[in-house]
Amino acid sequence: MKITKICCIGAGYVGGPTMAVIAQKCPDIQVTVVDLNEQRIADWNDPNPDNIPIYEPGLSEIVAEARGRNLFFSTDVDKAIDEAEMIFISVNTPTKTYGKGRGMAADLKYIELCARQIARVAKQNKIVVEKSTLPVRTAEAIKSILDNTGNGVQFQILSNPEFLAEGTAVADLLNPDRILIGGDVTVEGQEAINALVDVYANWVDKDKILTTNVWSSELSKLTANAFLAQRISSINAMSELCEKTGADVNEVARAIGMDSRIGPKFLKASVGFGGSCFQKDILNLVYIAKSYGLNEVADYWEQVIIMNDHQKRRFSNKIVQTLYNTVADKKIAFLGWAFKKDTNDTRESAAIYIADDLINEQAKISVYDPKVSRVKMQADLNYLETRSEEGNNDSLDTFNNAYEACKGAHAVAVLTEWDEFRTYDWQKIYDSMHKPAFIFDGRNILDSKHLESIGFVYNGIGS
Ligand code: NAD
Ligand code: UDX
Repeated sequence: MKITKICCIGAGYVGGPTMAVIAQKCPDIQVTVVDLNEQRIADWNDPNPDNIPIYEPGLSEIVAEARGRNLFFSTDVDKAIDEAEMIFISVNTPTKTYGKGRGMAADLKYIELCARQIARVAKQNKIVVEKSTLPVRTAEAIKSILDNTGNGVQFQILSNPEFLAEGTAVADLLNPDRILIGGDVTVEGQEAINALVDVYANWVDKDKILTTNVWSSELSKLTANAFLAQRISSINAMSELCEKTGADVNEVARAIGMDSRIGPKFLKASVGFGGSCFQKDILNLVYIAKSYGLNEVADYWEQVIIMNDHQKRRFSNKIVQTLYNTVADKKIAFLGWAFKKDTNDTRESAAIYIADDLINEQAKISVYDPKVSRVKMQADLNYLETRSEEGNNDSLDTFNNAYEACKGAHAVAVLTEWDEFRTYDWQKIYDSMHKPAFIFDGRNILDSKHLESIGFVYNGIGS
C-alpha cells in the first residue's frame, strides 16, 4: 500500500518538526498537521517562516520549502482525518494532575479524544500511528475504542515513537540513529508496517528501520528515556561526591567515557535535567511497574527522579549558603531559562525551580534568555502556585541583554548552556556587579581560570 496523504494530530514540538521533515523528504505525500489550538496553527501559517511557534535550528527553512507545496497546517481535524490513509497521533501525554495515578501516570485523555474522533470520522480503512510517548499496551485501548465506536472500517495501529531531542530536532530527524516501528504480526499488520517503512525509506537507510511487535516498541521509548536520564542522575550523584573529595566531575566523566562500554555522551553534570519528557516518562514507568506489583523495579527508577530533584535543590542551597546565608533583596542574574540550549521550550526547566527556591528566600531574579519571553517565564513560575502572581511578577525582572541583566547583581547563575555565554566580555560583567562577584555555573561551560583571574568567585558543578 502506498501512502499519498498523511494527517498528524498535534502541531507541537514533535508533530511540527517531524511532519515538516516527512513533507520535505516525500514531496509526493500530502502532509496535513492539525491542532485544536487555533493560535498555534495560525503561527505555523505565519507568512514569515521565522515566526513559526517552535524554535529549532534549521526548521524555518524546511517549513519555508514545503509549506503550501505538500505541507499544510489546519484546524480542520475532521477533514484531514477523512482524507488521510495514515494518521499520526502526536498529542501531549502529560503527567496526570488529578484522580488515580495523579502526579505519576500519563494522562491519556487527549489520546482517547483523538481515537474517538478518528473512529467517528473514518469512512475508509486507516493506519493509525502512535507518535506520542505512551504507556505500554495503550495500542490495545486505542484499538478497542476504534473498533467499538467506528463505522465498521478496518484500523491498523502502529507504534512509532519519536526519539528526537529538542534543539537538535531537525538534525535528529534527518539522520536518526534508528526508526522504530511496532505493529501486529498479522498479514494486515505487516502491510501497515511496510507502508510506514516505505515513508521513512525515502531518506533513512533500511537497516536503520527496526520493526518489532507493538508492545516492545511502546516500552522501548520509555526505556530509552529512562536510561538516558539515569546517566545524568548517575553523573550528578558523582558530582556531589567530587565536591567533597577534590575530584573533578569533568575529569571523571572523561575518564569513564573513554571506556567504550560506557561511551562519552550524556555524561555532562548539570543543575539537573529538565524538558517535557524525562521526568514524565520515568514517573509513568514507575507507575506502570507499581501497577504490576513490581515494587523493586519501581523504586529503582524512581531514584533517578529523586536524585534530579536533589541536584536542583542543592544548587539553590549552594547559592544561598555561599552568599553568606542570605539572598534577601539581593539581585541574582540568571543566564538562561530554557531547559537546554537551542530551544525556546521551558517545560520542567531547572531554572524555574531554582528561581522559585530563591524567591522563597526573597531574592530578586533578573533573567536573560535569548529565546524565552517574559510572559513564558511568568507563566512557568505561576504554574507552580507557590505564591501570588503579583509576588512572582515583583520578584522577576527580565532583560533582552545579558549585560543589563547582570548589572548590579550579587551573583550570576548559568542555567542553560547557550553558546553565546562563553564569549561574553566577562570583565565588563564583573565591573558592573557587587563584590565579591559570584558565579554559579550550573552547566560547567565557562572558563573558570579566566573568570577567577578577573576576580570572580567561581562555583561549578562537581569540582
Ligand atoms: P506539545 O504539547 O508541544 O504538542 C501537542 C499538541 O497537541 C498541542 O499543540 C495540543 O493543542 C494538541 N492537541 C492535544 N489534543 C488534541 C486533539 N484532541 N486534537 C488536536 N490537537 C490536539 O507536545 P509535544 O512536545 O509535541 O509532545 C507530543 C508527544 O510526543 C508526547 O507524548 C511526548 O511525550 C512525545 N515526545 C516529545 C518529545 C519532545 O522532545 N518534546 C520527544 C519525543 C516524544
Ligand atoms: C529527550 C531525549 O534525549 C530524546 O531522545 C527524547 O525523544 C525526548 O527526551 P530532550 O528532553 O529534548 O530529549 O533533550 P535532551 O538532550 O535529552 O536533554 C534533556 C535534559 O537533560 C536537558 O535539561 C539537558 O540539559 C540535560 N542533560 C543532557 C544534562 O544535564 N546532561 C547531559 O549530559 C545531557
